Amino acid sequence: MSIRKLALSAAAALALGTGPALSAGGVGEITDFHFSFEGPFGSYDRAQLQRGLQVYTEVCAACHGLQYVPFRTLTQDSGPALSPEAMRAFAAQFEIFDREIDDWRPAEGPDHFPPSQMETAPDLSLMAKARIGFEGPYGLGINQFFRGLGGAEYIASFLLGYDGREEMQAGAMFYYNKAYDGWVSMAPVLWEDGVEYADGTPATMEQQAKDVAAFLMWAAEPGLAERKRSGLVGVIFLTLLASLLYLTNKRLWAPVKNAAKGKTKDA
Ligand code: HEC
Repeated sequence: MSIRKLALSAAAALALGTGPALSAGGVGEITDFHFSFEGPFGSYDRAQLQRGLQVYTEVCAACHGLQYVPFRTLTQDSGPALSPEAMRAFAAQFEIFDREIDDWRPAEGPDHFPPSQMETAPDLSLMAKARIGFEGPYGLGINQFFRGLGGAEYIASFLLGYDGREEMQAGAMFYYNKAYDGWVSMAPVLWEDGVEYADGTPATMEQQAKDVAAFLMWAAEPGLAERKRSGLVGVIFLTLLASLLYLTNKRLWAPVKNAAKGKTKDA
């Protein structure tokens, strides 16, 4: 392939990734929702994470666990940033089985969220990293390089991806999901105003889907903002170092170069 052709197909590949909805190999229709944690300066939106936590608690927790997430992390400043009292009060709503006392007790800060209550519902702790929303064309990963893996986009699209088709298969109900690009056993769970947000945000279906997706992204990757920041510092540092090296190099060899130039002039 000529360089020109290669450049053209690379440009085409990039252009493909900018549409609002795309469908590519293996994943269904994923909407490219905007999230505050995208881009090199992105960070989690505290209010959104708190709303997402509310949606998780009121809607998803009936079936899905979050067993790798300790309650105390809810106080994290770059996360939902609950006050220690609010976090403890929140944790106390959950009962966990304590092996030491061989009995159930209200959960406390160091405890984790409970595992899934429904056997077939996967744990959601790492779901935002396990699912990929953006598949680069031809598996090149170009989309992923520019826009991340799209786990949050996948989750939000999945929650909004029902088209109303249902089917009984082997005695169980299945629902068609456009984001999954197939039949799933999870029924639609979001409704307009299905939750009443504590902060007064109108609870449209899309709002709930995005909020819980952002919350699950945080659960899977609580250090995202910090990592981005140190990555950026690294890039700035390396750029500075590279320019200094370039200048030093020029300076060092200048006499030699000038001498060589003088010689050729003489000759
Ligand atoms: C009534 C139980 C129930 C509720 C409530 C529920 N789910 Fe599910 N969920 C399931 C089951 C069962 C599956 C497995 C579906 C399958 O693989 O066919 C599933 C699968 C999923 C998946 C994985 C899809 C995939 O790509 O494999 C995600 C993501 C998910 N649920 C998110 C959520 C979120 C977020 C909420 C809350 C807004 C929620 N679920 C509420 C039962 C539930």
